[in-house]
Amino acid sequence: MAMRKKSKAKSKPKSKAASKKVVKLKSKKPAAKPAKSGLPPPSRKPFGQAGKALDGIKILDFTHVQSGPTCTQLLAYMGADVIKVERPGGGDITRSQLRDVKGADSLYFTMLNGNKRSITIDSKHPKGKEILERLIRHCDVLVENFAPGALDRMGLTWEYVHKTNPRMIVASVKGFGPGPYEDCKVYENVAQCAGGAASTTGFREGPPLVTGAQIGDSGTGLHLAWGIVCALYQRIRTGRGQRVLCAMQDGVLNLARVKLRDQQRLAHGPLTEYSQYGEGVPFGKAVPRAGNDSGGGQPGWILKCKGWEDDPDAYIYFITQAPVWGPICDLIGKPEWKTDPDYATPPARLPRLKAIFSTIEQWTMTQTKFEVMEKCNAVDIPVGPILSMKEIAEEQSLRATGTVVEVDHPTRGKYLTVGNPVKMSDSITEVTRSPLLGEHTEEILGKVLGYSSKDIVAIKESGAITPPAKPEKAEAA
Ligand code: COA
Repeated sequence: MAMRKKSKAKSKPKSKAASKKVVKLKSKKPAAKPAKSGLPPPSRKPFGQAGKALDGIKILDFTHVQSGPTCTQLLAYMGADVIKVERPGGGDITRSQLRDVKGADSLYFTMLNGNKRSITIDSKHPKGKEILERLIRHCDVLVENFAPGALDRMGLTWEYVHKTNPRMIVASVKGFGPGPYEDCKVYENVAQCAGGAASTTGFREGPPLVTGAQIGDSGTGLHLAWGIVCALYQRIRTGRGQRVLCAMQDGVLNLARVKLRDQQRLAHGPLTEYSQYGEGVPFGKAVPRAGNDSGGGQPGWILKCKGWEDDPDAYIYFITQAPVWGPICDLIGKPEWKTDPDYATPPARLPRLKAIFSTIEQWTMTQTKFEVMEKCNAVDIPVGPILSMKEIAEEQSLRATGTVVEVDHPTRGKYLTVGNPVKMSDSITEVTRSPLLGEHTEEILGKVLGYSSKDIVAIKESGAITPPAKPEKAEAA
């Protein structure tokens, strides 16, 4: 070592080209040729240790309530730096909606805003606009789900954003796409109704029903996240951003696509897999509500299990899948149905489905839903136990996979949230708690946007990041 140091000290400084030459001579491996695909050579780091899928992507998150926050939380789970902009004072309205712990952010908010940073900015204040301009220059994507026109009224038109940062993607959730309803404000159930889900959900004799799964809000947020990632990918080629819009009506319809399929099938005859057909009830002009009929080609229904009298969730979804008809007959004690021409084939069974499910139910009622699950799966019969949210919250396998995660929060304590439903082998999600209102305001102003401490004091004094002072109460006379 010493010898080498000595000779290095003695040697004359080399020109850049010369030193490069030396390196080349010393190197035993041939220089890696650039890949035809333009991709870097495969990482040698162990899977899960090469960062996250969206590392380096910066999101200006202008979302509120559920649809938009679902989208940005998914992006944050994938590693994007999500900077949530909130109105000083109250912030996202869901912070205080359905509050269960006094003074703490609600679960509504905390479960939709994990892994994000929060900055408060009054977007209508002149100084606030200046901060937003810096954020637009800094970020890759602006995500918003304001009422139609609200972003424009803030001065953040597409033209302005695109001019300020041509690479920025502007992604929006709206209730409806362009057309007669484009100016309407929309919430979850409005979208479920307008997207065709409600008219096709429920029992034939009853009114339309909305579902508990938030297909309008969370479903649309998920669609938007997909659009954003595609726009980021296209930007690699084009170098420019674009607008990404997902209307909640469109998102719901995409999820209700099988019902639009059935609408078209109706023109060619009755929908034979609907139990209405077996019951001899004629079809009308539109797809009817199908109760618990399966939406696919294999008839199914929800059946009572042992304990149903006291437990509202002691039920199971049972599917009479054709290839396992034999094992079903054996299991329920009806082996003769395997060869009886009235039961042996799917078409023969169609007009008898109600009676068949009633017979199967006589058997499921003698077993708990988990026993049915075990016995059916042992012979490849697909069944779905009706799991309560209590059972899901306590299910250890969901905790083990990170689908249900417990997070600690400074004001509300521990709470459960839903982790990333998508598991990737080289981008491992670590769920962190939601931010307090404005928790990262100073950090973002200083470290991200480059404001000095003096600037930050001036910004605070301007009222752009703080709530307007409450008028002093008049003294009692
Ligand atoms: N600083 C200053 N003003 C702010 C602000 C900030 N940081 N953040 C929001 N605001 C203002 C908006 O500019 C808007 O003002 P304006 O109407 O005077 O222009 C105002 O707050 C209200 O925004 P808006 O989006 O209209 O909220 P809302 O509570 O009236 O409506 C929805 C809520 C959800 C119905 C509506 O936003 C909507 O239809 N969004 C699109 C569809 C959607 O996502 N729905 C599902 C929600 S889960």
